[in-house]
Amino acid sequence: LLRGLFVTGTDTGVGKTLVSAGLMHRYRLRCPLQPLRYWKPIQTGTEEDDDTADVMRLGGCPPSEILSQGVRLPQPLSPHLAARLSGQSITLDPLVNLVTAEPPSRWVVEGAGGALVPINDSELMADLMARLALPVLIVSRSTLGTINHTLLTIEALGARSLSVVGVVMVGPNNPENRCAIEAYGGVPVVGEMPNFQPVTPELLGRWATTALDPSSHLSQFLG
Ligand SMILES: Nc1ncnc2c1ncn2[C@@H]1O[C@H](COP(=O)(O)OP(=O)(O)O)[C@@H](O)[C@H]1O
Ligand SMILES: [Mg+2]
Repeated sequence: LLRGLFVTGTDTGVGKTLVSAGLMHRYRLRCPLQPLRYWKPIQTGTEEDDDTADVMRLGGCPPSEILSQGVRLPQPLSPHLAARLSGQSITLDPLVNLVTAEPPSRWVVEGAGGALVPINDSELMADLMARLALPVLIVSRSTLGTINHTLLTIEALGARSLSVVGVVMVGPNNPENRCAIEAYGGVPVVGEMPNFQPVTPELLGRWATTALDPSSHLSQFLG
């Protein structure tokens, strides 16, 4: 059984990669005997996007904190379509085998897109979460519309018996939206990430070590 968290989002581009890098800053020193490591199992749009490289830079990660293998597809599309256009079909078994063969670690696994993004003809990103049996952290926006998107994501994950352990909201602090997500979703908001201008490893690291999960709610999974 893997230890760690699966980082999903209410959408693509919400901030999953920045939050993942923040988690590396926040939790890498908690348990030096079992390293904290980042893994991106499925990356599409590789001509423009490389979340693994972004996390290494923004999270200050040495190569030992990274599992760099996975499904890598050039087109910036949903995994099911990017794979089809590359003449491939993504299967979950090799991905699960890849990570379970690694030495015991605390994993930060970043999904692609959101929870119900298709991976192949019959499986969704939520099926990968279920196969890895990791608790889930949701990254959402802080702005208008987020209550609906976040509650829909919580409901979809709950319907699949996945454990949603927290939400990180990205954008200008919005106490009413935070309150509504906690009240109606029954999930704690463990961080509010401001818009960094510019995004630097130093600003992200300072935020993560002071304001990401300050009550250490996630330490039962990452500590
Ligand atoms: N807190 C933030 N401040 C400034 N820019 C951000 C912030 N969060 C995300 N971004 C920018 O938004 C884009 C998408 O963020 P990213 O973390 O890659 O999203 P995802 O992994 O969910 O697709 C990136 O260009 C990133 O630099
Ligand atoms: Mg990303």
